[in-house]
Amino acid sequence: MNEQVTVTEASPVKQPTLPDAQTVTEVKHYTDRLFSFRVTRPASLRFRSGEFVMIGLMGDNGRPLLRAYSIASPSWDETLGFYSIKVQDGPLTSKLQHIQPGDQVILRPKPVGTLVHDALLPGKRIWFFATGTGIAPFASLLREPETYEKFDEVILTHTCRDVAELKYGEELIELTKNDPLVGEEAQEKLRYYPTTTREESPKMGRITNLIKDGTLFKDLGIEDFSVENDRAMVCGSIGLNTDLKAIFEEYGLEEGANSEPGHYVVEKAFVG
Ligand code: A2P
Repeated sequence: MNEQVTVTEASPVKQPTLPDAQTVTEVKHYTDRLFSFRVTRPASLRFRSGEFVMIGLMGDNGRPLLRAYSIASPSWDETLGFYSIKVQDGPLTSKLQHIQPGDQVILRPKPVGTLVHDALLPGKRIWFFATGTGIAPFASLLREPETYEKFDEVILTHTCRDVAELKYGEELIELTKNDPLVGEEAQEKLRYYPTTTREESPKMGRITNLIKDGTLFKDLGIEDFSVENDRAMVCGSIGLNTDLKAIFEEYGLEEGANSEPGHYVVEKAFVG
């Protein structure tokens, strides 16, 4: 696993020329499986923190090859951030992983998604449960003032295979706590709970198991999930989403949607 993070930035930024094309402004490789990138923001694009858009490249057949990507930057940011897996035989990411600053990507400016504040009922504590690149929408929500206006406590859990894969989240927490807009509140309210499953680290295990055996609550000094206090957003593999749903339902929490807010919402992280 390549643990060295490399960053490349564009200067000066070229203006996009294709319809729906945006210019890549920064690319950062975290490991041989993970990278992040930033692109110019279409002037007309408005989105709610936590939503996703379709991103891609022109395929060899002349048709766009697009996949859903959560926007990993807050709604007030000038450029748009994304966090991606690299799948060596994946139709899109086998190519996308080679983008460089100055290159163009296709971005359909129609943001949608369920990981939004509007889909949750008011509560005291908000949990963001992520595995792998599922942390991306929370990179947006953690830097969104509404998150701190609505909740007294904000908890991000991030489970990855190994320690190098936690780096993006560690940087995110650092950035959030030093953010001019939300930093002060984040220092008071934000808690971070990273775990690994395949490499030794201070906290090991799948978050689902750490909930079931009570470790998570014990570590954080929290009694349990309650319908009255707790709200959750989940983003990860299908397995994580299904397993956490089952756990929440046992506690009596109900799934929400844009049209009918509830106690928790889930979304699948981008996979290939
Ligand atoms: P594990 O190593 O036990 O499979 P991936 O990199 O494959 O997307 O996985 C990211 C993290 O999500 C891994 O640490 C993985 O643990 C964990 N994970 C995968 N499936 C589940 C699940 N059903 N519940 C909780 N964690 C999961």
